[in-house]
Amino acid sequence: MQNIVVLISGRGSNLGSIAQACRQQRWPARIAAVIGGRAATPGLALAAAEGIATRQLAHQDFAAREAYEAELAASIDAYDPDWVVLAGFMRILTPPFVARYLGKMVNIHPSLLPSFPGLATHRRALAAGVRIHGATVHFVTPGLDDGPIIAQAAVPVHAGDDETTLAARVLAAEHRLYPMVVRWLVEGRAQLRADRVEWLPPVAGGEGACSPTDDAQLLWCP
Ligand code: GAR
Repeated sequence: MQNIVVLISGRGSNLGSIAQACRQQRWPARIAAVIGGRAATPGLALAAAEGIATRQLAHQDFAAREAYEAELAASIDAYDPDWVVLAGFMRILTPPFVARYLGKMVNIHPSLLPSFPGLATHRRALAAGVRIHGATVHFVTPGLDDGPIIAQAAVPVHAGDDETTLAARVLAAEHRLYPMVVRWLVEGRAQLRADRVEWLPPVAGGEGACSPTDDAQLLWCP
């Protein structure tokens, strides 16, 4: 049984979708812990309701970034993680921290990377007039919202959209995309090799609903 540690910063709806899929689809993995900052109280409550261990770790309580990350790493490592899943985790991580979990840390970002890294992605997508927007799951490397892309979910941008309607459409797509990708990871179907994603065949007896086909790597969520 593999251990997943999820890091959050807020409401934790992606965490909820992963926890539900993990439980319902009987992954060979469990969410061992959810760690979140000061604003993550709703997400941590959701995790606790799922019976998952939680830790609230506020970066504001540390004088230096290094001290915060040392405690964060110790908290993660206490759960012997196979995967570190960033689900709305809004801290920029230092290169040494990223290196510690290279190949086993993934992130979801609410845009079709490499477009719109950083904040306010939906507002910027509307301002740019793009007709297709979406979300990306990628391995984490030291750059901001950077790293080999595992899969993306695309949504249309409608003429009457505002930030709220577009964000809701993208979030619904995220809730389909992220559990699917984490399942591929725990089932050994994708891994980071050098600076790209390597796709692997199913292990014997593991052929099932979970298949990282080309179609699945680009979800269209109208
Ligand atoms: C999600 O939209 C996620 O893509 C985004 O934060 C939101 C968290 O929502 N992450 C980033 O912007 C990271 N750069 P949630 O707490 O309900 O899962």
